[in-house]
Amino acid sequence: MSETVLRVRGLRTHFALDDGVVKAVDGVDLDIARGETLAVVGESGCGKSVMARSILRLVDRPGRITGGEIWVRQPPDGMVDLVSADTRAVRAVRGKRIAMVFQEPMTSMSPMHTLGNQIGEVILLHERVTKAEARRRTIELLGRVDIPDPRRRVDEYPFQMSGGMLQRAMIAMALACNPELLIADEPTTALDVTTQARILELLRSLQDDFGMAVMLITHDLGVAAQMADRVAVMYMGNVVERGDVVSVFRSPRHPYTKALLRSIPRLGTGARERLRPVRGMVPHAYRRPSGCPFHSRCEEFMAGRCDVTVPMPVAGPEPGREVRCLLYEDTGAAPDRAGGPGNHPDSHRESREEEGT
Ligand SMILES: Nc1ncnc2c1ncn2[C@@H]1O[C@H](COP(=O)(O)OP(=O)(O)O)[C@@H](O)[C@H]1O
Ligand code: SF4
Ligand SMILES: [Mg+2]
Repeated sequence: MSETVLRVRGLRTHFALDDGVVKAVDGVDLDIARGETLAVVGESGCGKSVMARSILRLVDRPGRITGGEIWVRQPPDGMVDLVSADTRAVRAVRGKRIAMVFQEPMTSMSPMHTLGNQIGEVILLHERVTKAEARRRTIELLGRVDIPDPRRRVDEYPFQMSGGMLQRAMIAMALACNPELLIADEPTTALDVTTQARILELLRSLQDDFGMAVMLITHDLGVAAQMADRVAVMYMGNVVERGDVVSVFRSPRHPYTKALLRSIPRLGTGARERLRPVRGMVPHAYRRPSGCPFHSRCEEFMAGRCDVTVPMPVAGPEPGREVRCLLYEDTGAAPDRAGGPGNHPDSHRESREEEGT
């Protein structure tokens, strides 16, 4: 069994607002092993960012972690739980063992300081090295993330750089202390397609060289398929399906995963088939549906069951796979068989549009 670098159990992060409680993360379990890439996917608003920020205890007020455990490998003591740890222990993990890259580089860079000062500061904060050594390492890192002429760039300010360049600088900053896990929250969403491809390629080669694990948060299933070993699909603050990326994308079990996959052009095919967005809208965050949170949009909705019973995780059919859907709860076996590559759900599922909202 490979070594676990992060184990999240039953994580809940809620925002108590005047009009009600937003349960942004509501019982998430996750595991990441050393060196692997886990993609976290789901539509906008399903709780990906709040989950990621919760792991580093960076949730904005009035958000609060209301339950669960976040275990991080912390030699020589073994694992430390960041939910119950004190601030000092959390700071020791942040940046050093787990680093984060955000969609908007400017949210974590200061416009007032040069790249060299900002990245150097991260190194000095975590390691006992001289300023000159920190600067030398910064220049090396900038070169490592393909920033041209790093000796000159190290003394530049963020506003002097393009978006793609800044994203690279952010990755360099994240790598400064050789983290065991890099959490990248939509790291390429704001970039053009070519720059996006180059950044993803860079992430992969750095991962090979540094042996770090990556949690790649993305709403882009193509990126997930290309980059990840395993995938976790989130809906309304829950992981509704997980498993290795090939088997989940080839034979999705959860109706939400199936709908997400139908909403993108199929990989490796011409874009001739009609694409369908996931039908309906994500319910308002205050009005979490009873029973299965997906029931208001589900094409396989079972009245009297799905609107009443909260689905529990069911394992299988492959090792490491799990789904939260009542269709699988009794037997653990799929009633509508695991679809192979040629078994596109459009073809065999009776339409239930008449139940639409
Ligand atoms: N600071 C905040 N205050 C109130 N609600 C928030 C805040 N941040 C996020 N949320 C809510 O939490 C839910 C999950 O948001 P988020 O994690 O950003 O989604 P994602 O990253 O998957 O698009 C959304 O309903 C969002 O409105
Ligand atoms: S539990 Fe019911 S509503 Fe939820 S995903 Fe499964 S079939 Fe659909
Ligand atoms: Mg987000």
